[in-house]
Amino acid sequence: MGFFNWSEKNKLSPTFDWGIHIDIHNHILPALDDGSPDISTSHILLDGLEELGFTHSVSTPHIAAGIYHNDSESIAHSFQSLKDSFLNITQENNVSEPNSLSKAQSIILNGFASEYMLDDQFPEWIEKGLITYPSTGQYVLVEFPYLGKPLQWHELVFEMLKKRYQPILAHPERYQFISPEYLMETLMPAGFKFQLNLLSLSGYYGPKIKQLADIYLNEGIYEFVGTDMHHMFHLEALRKMKQDEKISAKLSDYTFQNELLLLH
Ligand SMILES: [Fe+2]
Repeated sequence: MGFFNWSEKNKLSPTFDWGIHIDIHNHILPALDDGSPDISTSHILLDGLEELGFTHSVSTPHIAAGIYHNDSESIAHSFQSLKDSFLNITQENNVSEPNSLSKAQSIILNGFASEYMLDDQFPEWIEKGLITYPSTGQYVLVEFPYLGKPLQWHELVFEMLKKRYQPILAHPERYQFISPEYLMETLMPAGFKFQLNLLSLSGYYGPKIKQLADIYLNEGIYEFVGTDMHHMFHLEALRKMKQDEKISAKLSDYTFQNELLLLH
C-alpha cells in the first residue's frame, strides 16, 4: 500500500498513491473531439493530471467515421498549439509574475496517439498508416462501438497484426457485450492487449462495469491503464477516487506496463 499525503483541495481527506505516473489515454488536447474544447480547459485538465500524480501524458483523441474527423495532421496541430501555449505563459510570466507559471508545464507531454473506433472506415486508416504511441512498439489504441462489436473485428485485428501493429483495446470492462469468458477465450487469443479505465474501479460508469474491472484486475488481464479524462466531471471523480484507500491499494499493488508506450 502506498503512502498518503494531505490533499491540497481538502485538508481533511488523505489521498493515496496509485503508483501510476504515465497517462496513456485521455482527451485533453483542445478542440478535437468530445474532450477539452479549448486551451484553457486543457490547462485545467493537465493541472488536474499533475495533482493526481502523473508526470507524463500521451493524449488519444478519437478517430471515428462520421463523428470525429481527426487525422495525424489535425491532432499534431492541436498538440502543438497546447505546447506553444506553455511557451506563451512562460514568456508572459517572465515579465510580470515569475512564480506563477502554470503547473501544467511540469507534466511532460509525450506526444499523442489516437483512440480509433473499429468501424467501416478503419481498413482505410490501416492502409494509410495508423497513429501509434511514441514508443517503437507500434502500439495502437482501439475501441469498440458501445452498442455491439463490429462484425468484422476479427479481420481488422488480423490486418493490424499483419502490419505489425499491436492493438490495445480501450476499457474492455465498459462493453456490455463482452463477458470475461469472451474476453479471455476469444479477444485475448486474437491478439488484443487491454487497457483499464481508472474510473471503472470507482463505479463511475455503473456497478456492473466496476464488477468487471475488478474481475479483470484480479485476473491480471490489463497491461495498461489510463484516465480517459474528457472533462471536469472526470477530473472531479478521479480526485475523489484518490481518497479511496482500498481502490488505491489495488492499483498500487498491480504492475502496469504504461512505460512501454513511451520512447526510451
Ligand atoms: Fe477515450
